[in-house]
Amino acid sequence: MVYSRPSSLPVPTVWHRFTARGVTLRVQDLTQQQVEPAVRLLLQHFTADEPPCKYIEINKHPGAVAELEKLWRNTIKDQLSLVCVEDVDEPKEIVGVNVLTVCSRSDEEEEFKTENRIWAKLFGAVELVGKSVDIFARFGVQRYLTAYGLVVAPPWRGCGIGGEILRARIPLCKALGIKVTATVFTAAASQAVAKKAGFHDLFQISYEELAQRGFRFPGVEENTKYSKLMALEII
Ligand SMILES: CC(C)(COP(=O)(O)OP(=O)(O)OC[C@H]1O[C@@H](n2cnc3c(N)ncnc32)[C@H](O)[C@@H]1OP(=O)(O)O)[C@@H](O)C(=O)NCCC(=O)NCCS
Repeated sequence: MVYSRPSSLPVPTVWHRFTARGVTLRVQDLTQQQVEPAVRLLLQHFTADEPPCKYIEINKHPGAVAELEKLWRNTIKDQLSLVCVEDVDEPKEIVGVNVLTVCSRSDEEEEFKTENRIWAKLFGAVELVGKSVDIFARFGVQRYLTAYGLVVAPPWRGCGIGGEILRARIPLCKALGIKVTATVFTAAASQAVAKKAGFHDLFQISYEELAQRGFRFPGVEENTKYSKLMALEII
């Protein structure tokens, strides 16, 4: 059965508060009203800066961008995604987004197929890394929290907000009764913030090797050497 958020958990719940650049920020569930600005932030800045998207120049391929947008919009419907905003009644901007979902052992395995060659490389590479370890067997769990996109708005980068968004997964997982979160981190920057937030490496593959396997993102190595599957156990 596909996982659904327990109805006992109100939306939005605030999962974490912290201060960055003298401003108090909060990480909360992404609300219905925040869907469009959150997707806009992802479309503008994830596609431009996430290393595989950047180096394969996804923005020159509207079909691939449409597939990525579809993935985000479908995943957001699970009501598990998080946003970071200023901790005021009506925050003006979205500071960061993390698109989240739960994978269950009982989910039906769907073979990934696409006609779009750019999307085939982008999602294919994430799938290769994501499936490199059987998370259910490794941690003895029936489900885990995973993600399909983390972005911090450029003016807010450089003060660890990505890590604070990742830390918010701990109370979220506790509320959901989930013991593990695992994610493919494709960027050196996100791998660094994930490590600081307590994630550890489960698997890594160099972009050079990914290229040999048909997933080529020309020039990505100047930014990031490895794609990594990383996990955090919730204690
Ligand atoms: C990933 C992202 C959310 C991190 O933003 P952030 O929380 O502001 O990150 P910070 O700048 O505070 O920290 C990044 C860390 O990575 C390091 N880093 C950044 N780029 C790096 C690179 N190319 N190689 C190695 N380390 C790098 C920084 O030095 C910093 O470490 P430090 O705090 O020890 O100095 C942001 O860069 C982003 O939105 N990127 C575009 C989308 C993306 O790549 N998402 C991740 C996909 S998995």
